[in-house]
Amino acid sequence: MTRDARRLVVVGQGYVGLPLAMRAVEVGFDVTGFEIDQGRVDRLLAADSYIEDVDSATVRDALANGRYRATADPADIHGFDIAVITVPTPLRDTQPDLSHIESAARTLAAALTPGALVILESTTYPGTTEELLVPLLEAGSGLTIGTDVLVGYSPERIDPGNEEWTFVTTPKVVSGINPASLAAVDAFYSELVVETVPVSTPKEAELCKLLENTFRHVNVALVNELTVFAGELGIDVWEAIDAASTKPFGFMPFRPGPGVGGHCLPVDPSYLSWQVRRSLGESFRFVELANDVNAHMPIYVVRRITRALNDRGLPVKGSRVLLLGLAYKRNTSDARESPSVVIAAQLADLGAQVRAADPFVDESVPGNGVTRVDCNAEELAAADAVVMLTNHDAFDVKSVVEHASFVLDCRRAVPSAVHVEYL
Ligand SMILES: NC(=O)c1ccc[n+]([C@@H]2O[C@H](COP(=O)([O-])OP(=O)(O)OC[C@H]3O[C@@H](n4cnc5c(N)ncnc54)[C@H](O)[C@@H]3O)[C@@H](O)[C@H]2O)c1
Repeated sequence: MTRDARRLVVVGQGYVGLPLAMRAVEVGFDVTGFEIDQGRVDRLLAADSYIEDVDSATVRDALANGRYRATADPADIHGFDIAVITVPTPLRDTQPDLSHIESAARTLAAALTPGALVILESTTYPGTTEELLVPLLEAGSGLTIGTDVLVGYSPERIDPGNEEWTFVTTPKVVSGINPASLAAVDAFYSELVVETVPVSTPKEAELCKLLENTFRHVNVALVNELTVFAGELGIDVWEAIDAASTKPFGFMPFRPGPGVGGHCLPVDPSYLSWQVRRSLGESFRFVELANDVNAHMPIYVVRRITRALNDRGLPVKGSRVLLLGLAYKRNTSDARESPSVVIAAQLADLGAQVRAADPFVDESVPGNGVTRVDCNAEELAAADAVVMLTNHDAFDVKSVVEHASFVLDCRRAVPSAVHVEYL
């Protein structure tokens, strides 16, 4: 690869791919965002960003200066210098679904020319780069991977909504299938981020990402389970966590919540446990336990709502319950795997009149049996129970406590009052 290798393709223009594409435009790459969803391509071409961390104005400027284009046509990517794959890696029937990586690899293989660099960023189990991506690139291109074409893996650490630790300021772990590949991957990201962290092989980089997510998943499960027990024992777990956080070493605070959502916690650790079971025949017990504890949190929240209504002589059936927040994470629109959706469905199933407010999440979520409303004084006052599930800044917590007759706050966001219960 030469210094003037500037034609970059980013495969997948989602939460990971679009910010990467915009950053690459900023530092001077000529970027093609390859995206199979034509609706997304159309929105990008109209400078209409659907990712919160990317302003529409940024897309507009990138289009206007001619250094960015979005396309769903594979013919547009032929002869690229560098390609980064940022496609989804979901679970299907609890098994890793690598079909998006496979399809991206086939598309790139058909467009490969000698001297190119291909980097995988999607979160996946160790071995994917060398055992899946490399053979697909080789078979589809007829080129020798490792010499004609360099390949590496670099996990994405993007934290949507986090203004301090951005794509640029967060150190980036980089790897390659051989020293030449590592050097090329490192050189590429060194232009984009403040610090790169080279590791020996793609497997260490792949495991690094799964370790980070599993660490968080397990610790969130720990505080969630503790929260259930502390509640039964009449102890304020939030205060205990705050107190423990004053220890300057050996403790890191994690906060309880109504369950886990997105991809990092509910999905990614299962890639690791799946691989451990497949390769070693062993059960990764920490992951299985964390999955179990976190998956039960929405059920626990519904139980707490049921109990609170019951205390006031109200059955769930027919009661009006207002859910605040459908996204799994505050100040984002991401409702993938969101516990709020599970809670809404369970309450609707029990016959509650479920209403839900979220200024960010698409109106089609959560679907059947739930009415989407605004969080205003009338809605708050008309609800038999208000449940704070995602503490978006847009929710006026003083108004919540002032107008609601009962609040179950799963985020410790609402000021304390006699009619406010915390998870
Ligand atoms: N969202 C995060 O916060 C985050 C953080 C770190 C890592 N990751 C990982 O990054 C990867 C991508 O996640 P995301 O959140 O950006 O997903 P996303 O769903 O937001 O975006 C992925 C995009 O890829 C497109 N796509 C799918 N197959 C394609 C193909 N063959 N060719 C071109 N486009 C294709 C989809 O239409 C979609 O627009 C996943 O492996 C995820 O686990 C995500």
